[in-house]
Amino acid sequence: NKPIKIALLGLGTVGTGVYKLLSMRADDMPQIAGAPIEISHILVRNASKPRSGVETALLTDNWNDIISDPEVSIVVELMGGIEPAHTYIKEALQANKNVVTANKDLIAVHGGELLDLAEEHHCDLQFEASVAGAIPIIHPLKQSLAGNRITEIMGIVNGTTNYILTRMTEDGMEFSEALAKATELGYAEADPTADIEGYDAGRKVAIMASIAFHSRVTFDDVFTEGITNIQARDIRYAKEMGKAVKLLGVACNTDEGIEVRVHPMLIPSSHPLATVNNAFNAVFVHGDALDDAMFMGRGAGELPTASAVTGDIIDTARNILMHCTGRIGCTCYKKLPIKKMED
Ligand code: NAP
Ligand code: HSE
Repeated sequence: NKPIKIALLGLGTVGTGVYKLLSMRADDMPQIAGAPIEISHILVRNASKPRSGVETALLTDNWNDIISDPEVSIVVELMGGIEPAHTYIKEALQANKNVVTANKDLIAVHGGELLDLAEEHHCDLQFEASVAGAIPIIHPLKQSLAGNRITEIMGIVNGTTNYILTRMTEDGMEFSEALAKATELGYAEADPTADIEGYDAGRKVAIMASIAFHSRVTFDDVFTEGITNIQARDIRYAKEMGKAVKLLGVACNTDEGIEVRVHPMLIPSSHPLATVNNAFNAVFVHGDALDDAMFMGRGAGELPTASAVTGDIIDTARNILMHCTGRIGCTCYKKLPIKKMED
């Protein structure tokens, strides 16, 4: 098969990871994906900035180079934020290009509309990396667990805050020092407010709840409280009581309606979630047939996030070769309107 051409939008932490991982797996791609996968363009803000190990000829700061190239069949959005990512993704789908994104800000607000557009154009829109980094959770909720009535999802879905709380607990580090370290390690968002105020976790919970509960839960529906008011002494007291402080995201589907929230919680040190440390994430799912399942792994960072993005690229490439893009992913977000809890 001839190569499948892809364009990366963004070459920051995640974009660099995807570039590296695709290079590492290049020789295996014909076997894994069914064809070589070739990066033909990389969109950045500043195309003249040197980027070590990256072919300069691939860099562009002009979206038109990508959208007007009929050879590009997958657009991989790794810029973050709402605009221009929202416009570019819409234009890509309207031009019948498949899209892979790690952008939870966008999917948590515009996911439903973008999935409708993908369906209209028979394209894939895949976003596994938007929730919990390397952990496969979007695909399981859409596919393997689809036979369940899922009633609860709960977990640690922000690596930055879990890293900060771990450092404060284990090393007695101050909040600001731990945040600086999380930023240096590539876990934090460009503006870490979203991490520490619980918005990032709220967006991820909204995305998971939409898929698991066949509804359209958006970020506005989520109650959020972050970790900025937690001090080293709170963590010390918690430890003395045999408890750990964790920022948890919770989504419940009850007879009264769907409830989605993010806030710090005290949990017993013996609880499995208390042992999930550093930038690791963990997600519990309860369904009527499966009972309980827990998914755990690295929730942020260059290669772990690239692992999820690359999986989506490969899946999309296979769908292109089998002429079945748009086959899955469009049925979620459709059925039930959200019944928002009053308080
Ligand atoms: P990042 O390090 O800030 O990189 C952003 C990249 O996008 C940079 O290369 C930047 O170009 C480019 N960019 C931004 N705005 C642009 C614009 N208007 N036009 C062209 N290029 C633009 O971000 P990141 O951490 O890789 O995150 C990327 C996405 O993945 C976000 O949606 C984030 O939420 C998500 N995500 C991140 C992680 C993680 O661990 N970091 C994990 C899961 C999901 P320049 O290089 O020229 O500045
Ligand atoms: N800033 C996010 C986090 C990146 O710390 O979890 C992964 O989505």
